Amino acid sequence: MTLKEKVAIVTGGSRGIGKAIVLALARAGAAVVINYQENEDAARDTLGEVEESGGKGMVYRADVRHLPECEKMVKATLDHFGRIDILINNAGIRRDNILALMKEEDWDVVLDINLKGVFNCCKAVLRPLLKQKRGGKIINIASVAGMVGNSGQTNYAAAKAGVIAFTKSLAKELGKRGITVNAVAPGFIETDMTEDLPDQLKEMILPRISLERFGKPEEVAEAVLFLAQNANYTTGSVILVDGGLML
Ligand code: NAI
Repeated sequence: MTLKEKVAIVTGGSRGIGKAIVLALARAGAAVVINYQENEDAARDTLGEVEESGGKGMVYRADVRHLPECEKMVKATLDHFGRIDILINNAGIRRDNILALMKEEDWDVVLDINLKGVFNCCKAVLRPLLKQKRGGKIINIASVAGMVGNSGQTNYAAAKAGVIAFTKSLAKELGKRGITVNAVAPGFIETDMTEDLPDQLKEMILPRISLERFGKPEEVAEAVLFLAQNANYTTGSVILVDGGLML
């Protein structure tokens, strides 16, 4: 229970990778705020699983695109649990298309959620983290797409590359305050986000993965848990959880 007494916010925590992160942090003893945007039932189910295993948490609706909503979420966290230690920026979407066919709104919404959402949540937690003077851990979920690019994902890859550059810059800013800022870059993980990808595309990707299988949300959560509980001398880094896809 190395995260006992610690309080974490996980954005997009009701399903997929976010849910696996919520459960892993709760098992390690943290109280977890499960942020959701739309699906309150799924968020409450996740909270139920946390509580069944003896953990603590709460659900909170906020759209990470809007700074005031992120600020209210942090305030609610402080009101409820009295502190904040860990922020996991996991919320993300994809709206894939080749650039010639990509609508401007698909560019905007992906950048707004995947990149500005990270800015908003970091900004919202920063003041309380600094005021507490207990350090802190910020972990951003990037993607291998932000490192090598992906045809049909100019918006998504640009946002995730932005998340990586943002992570490194903020790590430089906050090192002297004892706050670490890291990113986890998953490869291909089986979640709702990847379920509807064409089988043909999945068949193309699979042979490029050294471990010869797609990843599971729990395997991403393990890397996040490591950064949240053990990585005291790791900051500004990007941990790949891609089964060797990038080799
Ligand atoms: P998912 O679609 O299952 O989960 C995304 C979550 O983000 C959902 O709970 C959704 O409601 C939430 N969300 C979306 N917009 C939001 C908003 N405006 N405000 C608050 N929450 C919002 O997808 P998955 O796969 O679990 O993805 C989680 C993260 O991992 C994302 O950042 C994604 O880009 C990243 N990732 C996923 C990979 C994969 O293969 N599944 C690969 C690389 C990165």
